[in-house]
Amino acid sequence: MILNRQNHRIELEPKFGSGNSHMAQSLNNKTQRLQQWFDDQPRWDHASYGEFMHVGGNQTIFQIALEEQEITTETKVLDTACAVGGNARWMASLYGCQVYGNDIDEQALTVARDLAEIENISELCTFVKAPVEDLPFDDNTFDMVMTTDVYDPAEVKRVLKPGGSFIVVSLFEDPKVTPLQLAESWGLELEISLDVTDLAFAFNRAKETEARLLHESKMIGARELIEIMNESIVPYTRGGRHYILRLRKN
Ligand SMILES: C[S@@+](CC[C@H](N)C(=O)[O-])C[C@H]1O[C@@H](n2cnc3c(N)ncnc32)[C@H](O)[C@@H]1O
Repeated sequence: MILNRQNHRIELEPKFGSGNSHMAQSLNNKTQRLQQWFDDQPRWDHASYGEFMHVGGNQTIFQIALEEQEITTETKVLDTACAVGGNARWMASLYGCQVYGNDIDEQALTVARDLAEIENISELCTFVKAPVEDLPFDDNTFDMVMTTDVYDPAEVKRVLKPGGSFIVVSLFEDPKVTPLQLAESWGLELEISLDVTDLAFAFNRAKETEARLLHESKMIGARELIEIMNESIVPYTRGGRHYILRLRKN
């Protein structure tokens, strides 16, 4: 549901074809397509991630992991567990590289494809339904694999070309596990390790505060507030660390 500031539905003229009028309408406008996706989500706080559904690593910070990487129009990138493909589309838009995304959520992949069309990068983007544990790609296919939170290191290593890089933005709940240990256990070389725990903690704290305000305004229920509180800062208070890592397959 799209509402303007006076809570009136905004109707747009369909721009693409006449098939599915709902889809045609949503294809006009990126904000509306994303909002439609968020409205369909069971939880309000998913929207606070925007189209880049990870905390502790916004696109500005993410660029640190891309430093000194040669990215050309020939570069093949996989965004594994891509959801609506924010990272993949960001790469395609800025670098003109070929991006692929996989996820098990078909609705998210539909949004990813719609947004790629709105952004005029469809030709650079391929989004496929597949689990991270069984990627439908040949060995040694990608120059770069990126992920936030959900990935299978053995599959990532298999589909990476020798010399290819793996960029991870993720919470690691066990504070005793170091980035170097992770790299060794995955059989990859650690190149960059950036601890963004403070950023992730602050983001989650802000989200909690926002949830309280929404609850006080009766826009979300007590149950949702408690769920958000339980999931947001708790892993960090237990010592969890949030890292951006860049690893290389030798
Ligand atoms: C936190 S979201 C990350 C989305 C995206 N990487 C981003 O940063 O915007 C996690 C995603 O993992 C997907 N997912 C969960 N388990 C999966 C699996 N076994 N295989 C593929 N995708 C999976 C979910 O559907 C969801 O879209």
